[in-house]
Amino acid sequence: VPVPPMSIRFDQAAGTLSPEGPTLTRRMSDLEGLFRDHEAWEKAVADGDPVVYSVISSPVPEIDRELPQSITTIQPGTTGGELWMTKGHQHPNHQGEIYLGISGRGGLLMFDGTETRWVEMTPGTIGYMPPGWAHRSVNIGDEPYSFLAVYPGGAGHDYGWVLEHGMGLRALSGADGVELVDYVEG
Ligand code: PA5
Ligand code: NI
Repeated sequence: VPVPPMSIRFDQAAGTLSPEGPTLTRRMSDLEGLFRDHEAWEKAVADGDPVVYSVISSPVPEIDRELPQSITTIQPGTTGGELWMTKGHQHPNHQGEIYLGISGRGGLLMFDGTETRWVEMTPGTIGYMPPGWAHRSVNIGDEPYSFLAVYPGGAGHDYGWVLEHGMGLRALSGADGVELVDYVEG
């Protein structure tokens, strides 16, 4: 169903969009196989299964030629020393995407299967993901990190790609903030 031209209002205090589309909540249990320390992940799931991030969407549908948007908010936290993050995905059709930092401090980790890039995201930063670069977001601060995503409606989300190939680097909590280390399984 196409939508008419419109404006969409983001209420940051309430964490809502109006008009709004689907909302997604990802708990720790939804992030299986992604943290380096599997035992710490299992313990966090058993220990209340916290909400790690949520995604609110505009009503623009995810279909070809449309340009949907969403706002992701990642809570601050670590599991086994690894900073809380999104699952991360590749776009099956290798379409590009942009993010705009809204609040808090984050990192945008990108991986094309060979090379890795890390972009620090603060309010006002536009992060660009070229075609073919898988992407994951990380909260590197001590308050929630929120960003706007704008992406082609036909982009899709391939989560299996990240489970298979990893993201090149991992973001750990270090003495002076974030410490990026090589991606090591399990
Ligand atoms: O379109 C995007 O890349 C974002 O809106 C992400 O989907 C969002 O940040 C959640 O991440 P993921 O889809 O990897 O769980
Ligand atoms: Ni994407």
